Amino acid sequence: MKALVLAGGSGTRLRPITHTSAKQLVPVANKPVLFYGLEAIAAAGIREVGIVVGDTHAEIEAAVGDGSAFGLQVTYLRQEAPLGLAHAVLVAGDYLADDDFVMYLGDNFVVGGITSLVERFRADRPAAQIMLTQVPDPRQFGVAELDAGGRVVGLEEKPALPKSDLALVGVYLFTAAVHEAVAELKPSWRGELEITDAIQWLIDAGHRVESTVISGYWKDTGNVTDMLEVNRLVLESLDPAVRGKVDGASELIGRVLVEEGAVVRGSRIVGPAVVGPGTRVTDSYVGPFTSIGAGCVIADSEIEYSIVLSRSSITGVRRVEASLIGHDVEVTPAPNTPRAHRLVLGDHSKVQISS
Ligand code: TTP
Repeated sequence: MKALVLAGGSGTRLRPITHTSAKQLVPVANKPVLFYGLEAIAAAGIREVGIVVGDTHAEIEAAVGDGSAFGLQVTYLRQEAPLGLAHAVLVAGDYLADDDFVMYLGDNFVVGGITSLVERFRADRPAAQIMLTQVPDPRQFGVAELDAGGRVVGLEEKPALPKSDLALVGVYLFTAAVHEAVAELKPSWRGELEITDAIQWLIDAGHRVESTVISGYWKDTGNVTDMLEVNRLVLESLDPAVRGKVDGASELIGRVLVEEGAVVRGSRIVGPAVVGPGTRVTDSYVGPFTSIGAGCVIADSEIEYSIVLSRSSITGVRRVEASLIGHDVEVTPAPNTPRAHRLVLGDHSKVQISS
């Protein structure tokens, strides 16, 4: 059995972060979200992994390498444009050949891993096995209709009038029967080859499609709100440790990880929170569910429920909350008079100012 990990795409919902970096590499508790998926695949006993990459291929390849750090053998499969999840399967056709495979969306997070899903598929081998979860607004998802026995009878991509509240989530298992389906597909109204259409094709051709309904242990990290929520979830089981320096005037409360070379002075950190390697936190408050990346400076500031990527600085600012701050960002206070905000924001930035 192989794995197909999708790490291309355009990442419009995470702009401007995705103008300069791959969304699959945005860190959760200071580790790229993609790495959690690769670890889950390795834990399920799969070794051969094809990673579908697009414009951000160099960055993904630099981060994952040949996969040996995860106990995996990784092959990169170039997708010339993000033409859909089923297009990624088409691109991977030669690599996957006749093997069964698990398709894993590289920006998705499955709490508890995928081992039991993979085991069920290995024992049962339907043409496709999908994972479903109840969502409040199914119109933004692929939606499944089940019969009384739980078998999938129909699928629709982002329907205006959903037939159920069960959305497809980021892990799909297939036998080689899916290759015949993706070869037959035509682009949808949004110009993509839809994996929901491929699965519908399998159903229509008389193949068996099974589903597992899971509750509450999946997140798509494609937008900022979900990204912060996954960060919160992961930090809740953080192993606390002080590998850097914390002075006597500082206070660490709860699960706090201070990584190598980090320095905390005159500050209060309430966990769960992680302070990345080489980061300096001085005269500041770092509140729960905050991940601060490597080489950052937090000085005379307050920050909570946020993710800060490497080499950024926040100086003299009260108070930053529910924020995703990119690499090499500087956040500083404006002069008091005149009362004005001075902003240098990249394309597609989103800023909320309280004044
Ligand atoms: P999505 O989040 O559905 O798509 P996207 O990356 O284009 O993001 P947005 O909606 O914000 O513009 O993709 C799910 C995962 O699959 C993600 O890791 C990107 C990857 N992907 C590909 O590798 N190739 C593709 O053609 C598509 C559509 C997605």
